[in-house]
Order: sequence, then C-alpha cells, then structure tokens
Amino acid sequence: VSDEHPAPLDLRSFLGALRAGQAPPAGAIERFIQAVTEERVDRAHLGAFLALVFVRGLEPQALLELTRAMVHSGDVLDLEGLGRPVVDKHSTGGIGDKVSLPLAPALVAAGCAVPMISGRGLGHTGGTLDKLEAIPGFQTAVDPAEYRTRLERFGLVFGGQTSRIAPADRILYATRDVTGLVESIPLITSSILSKKLAENLDGLVLDVKFGSGAFLPEIERGEALARALVETAQAFGVRAVAWLSNMQRPLGRTIGHSLEVEESVHCLAGHGPSDLRELVCLLGGEALALVGIADSPGEGALRIARCLDDGSAFQVFERVVEAQGGDPRALTDTTLLGTAAQVARHEASAAGYVHFPDLRAFGRALLQLGGARRAVGEAIDLGVGVRLLVDEGQRVELGTPLLEIHHRGTGLDPARAELEGAIAVAAEPPRRQPLALRRIPASEG
Ligand code: URA
Repeated sequence: VSDEHPAPLDLRSFLGALRAGQAPPAGAIERFIQAVTEERVDRAHLGAFLALVFVRGLEPQALLELTRAMVHSGDVLDLEGLGRPVVDKHSTGGIGDKVSLPLAPALVAAGCAVPMISGRGLGHTGGTLDKLEAIPGFQTAVDPAEYRTRLERFGLVFGGQTSRIAPADRILYATRDVTGLVESIPLITSSILSKKLAENLDGLVLDVKFGSGAFLPEIERGEALARALVETAQAFGVRAVAWLSNMQRPLGRTIGHSLEVEESVHCLAGHGPSDLRELVCLLGGEALALVGIADSPGEGALRIARCLDDGSAFQVFERVVEAQGGDPRALTDTTLLGTAAQVARHEASAAGYVHFPDLRAFGRALLQLGGARRAVGEAIDLGVGVRLLVDEGQRVELGTPLLEIHHRGTGLDPARAELEGAIAVAAEPPRRQPLALRRIPASEG
C-alpha cells in the first residue's frame, strides 16, 4: 500500500491487531478500504483482512467504520427534498423469493419513493435484476445521476450496483466469493448496507431468511445477522426493522425468472399465492410504519393490500417497466415473457405428505436447466424453471403431479435428479414453521 495519509498505514500491525481480536486504531479500516478501492492493496493483504474478519469477527465500532468506508467508497444518492419518504427492502435471498417485484410498486402507490439497487443471482439464489430482464426490453443499467429525476417522475427505480455505488463492496465480494469467505456476519452486514446506505434512505426493511434455502440456514445465525443489520442501519440514522422469514419451503409457487415475473404480476393484480401476498403486506406495512405513513405495521399492511387490490401498485409497475425500456404488454399477455414451452411433470412416487428436504436443490435444478450462473457474468436462460403444484404438508397419492419443469430439452435429466432431493413424500407430515417467525426491531435510544 502506498498511502497518501501523513502516517502510512502499517499493514502488519493493522492485520496483527485483527489477528489478536483487538480493535484496529481508529481510522485504520477506513484507510485500508480506501486503498482497496484505489487498487493499492495486493491480494494477499486483502485475503488476510477478509479471513481475519471472517474468523475473528469485528467489534461494533469497527463494523460501523468498515460499513461507512464501504458506503463512501462511491457515490451516495442525493435525494434531499424529494417530498416523499425514501424506503427500501432487502432480502438475504432464497428460492422463489420475488417479493421486491410486487412490494416496491406497492410502496410507491402508498406514497414512498423506492430507489431499489438490486443484484443478480449467484449460487442458488435468484436476483431481482435477472428477474426484471425477463420482461422484454427491460434495462437495469441506470446511471446514479438519473435516480433523482426518475424518482420524481415514477417514484421507483430498479437499478443495479454500478461501478459508482459502493465499489469497495464489488472488490471485497468478488474476493470473498472465490476464497469461501461469504458467510460472515460482519462481512455480509457491511456488504448489504454499503449498497442500501448509498441510497440515502429514511427507512429500511430487512427480510432475513432461515432454513435450507437461506444463506445462513440456522435460525440463530439468521437472528444475529438481522440484529447486526438493524443496529448498524440505525447507527447511520436509517430507521430499520428485520423479520426472520421462512426459507424451508419455496416462496410462492414458481422458481425461475419469467415464471416469477408472471407470479409477481398476479400478486400486483391482487391475486397470486397467499404466502407471497402475506410477506409483501407484512414487509410493506413495516416500511410504511417506519416512515410514519402508517400508524402501525398492521395498518401499513392493510394499506399495501389495498394498493394491490385497487390496481394502483400494478399501474406503478406498468409505468416503471415502460420507463425502463420494458414492454408493458408482457404484464397482461404473459406469453410475451418467453417461458420455455416444453413442460415435463414430476409425480409422487408414493402416497403421503409433501416435504422439502433441501431447498438448495431447486437452485441446482435451475442451474442444470440453464437458468442460473456458475460464475459472475455468465448468460442465463430466463425462461426455464419450475412450477410447484403442491404445498408443504399437503397430502398426495401415488402419481399425484408435484411440479412442472419448463425446459428447452437440455439438462432435464440432471435437473430431475436434483428435484428428487428438493421435494419428497413421506408417511408423516413435516413440522411446519410459520412464514414470518420473529420480528427484530432496533433497540431503543
Ligand atoms: N448479499 C450481499 O449483498 N452481500 C453479501 O455479503 C451477501 C449477500
């Protein structure tokens, strides 16, 4: 590192403090991240930093410093005086999680502005940007300089993380990804919040998943992550609340990009699966209460439900799709979404109750069909996927159709093999956990 600060950062003692579990000197993390962003840190030092944080954790003060440095490695949106509270939702991701698509327009219909900066799918989880691109023509590359005018006109932007938003996170995340250092609470917290805090939010709702389809499957670790996210956001003056929600079963009935857009459109029209609608209303209600549009989360949830039922959320989505180059006809004629026409069925091999033993296997099945990435930047088929025909715990007979596989003739056998591990029928019904298990508010004061 060639540091421009008066006293150069001594990397040996900086890393030595982290190794000993001590707090590094104030300002050291900030200078380290600045040097990372300017590509003045070699990979050995960056790898050591990430591994030490992964193994040793970070004190709350050091986590704040890391998050602040990552936010300020790039632009922060200037949204002062927008005239509407600015809110967003972040989910740690999972199988069939398409909540952002109906939720963001519903929040706008209820009076908020939503500058949603989302990611692409990697590993077993899907990404909002990829889902939106299943709408023909939809463009997700939005210049940060355009957010303000777009929010003034449409209330909503669906954009990606450009090189100007939290660039330090891109570098850190890419290194974590190839070194097996993703599942760390301080690293996930600073990574997620670096992008969300760059949106200059008033309120943030966090949907932290638990279960076999979650990044952190154990409820206890999910809860620790939820607390770290809420407390850190709050320390930056962003009102925040988290819910621990269920990823032991898929959310809704579809997995795969164009199928998930179709289901989101149904939700936006006041229909669709009840679990998707319930989570959209719950998280939306929390957001409205955080910024004072609703008196309570429950009242907020009713408002969100009204925006879905009266067509106002759908209209917002239609306008934003058009504004971002998408073909709005695809929202009423979903054959334009390009879902693969070949359909294979997977049937119950015995009578019994439906279980989901391993949700990640759905993600691997999608990968086999060509609908997910093995590496950053790969092209994927947005039209393949799986439609569930049954719910967790449902009683089925031998031969009952469990799911439909939309495919293009390749990868069907390996996808079927994965699906054998994703859905099963057993003599006893599963222990069903609630959809939303626990609410994690910010601590008082
Ligand atoms: N999503 C992010 O943006 N960052 C992480 O570290 C994990 C999930």
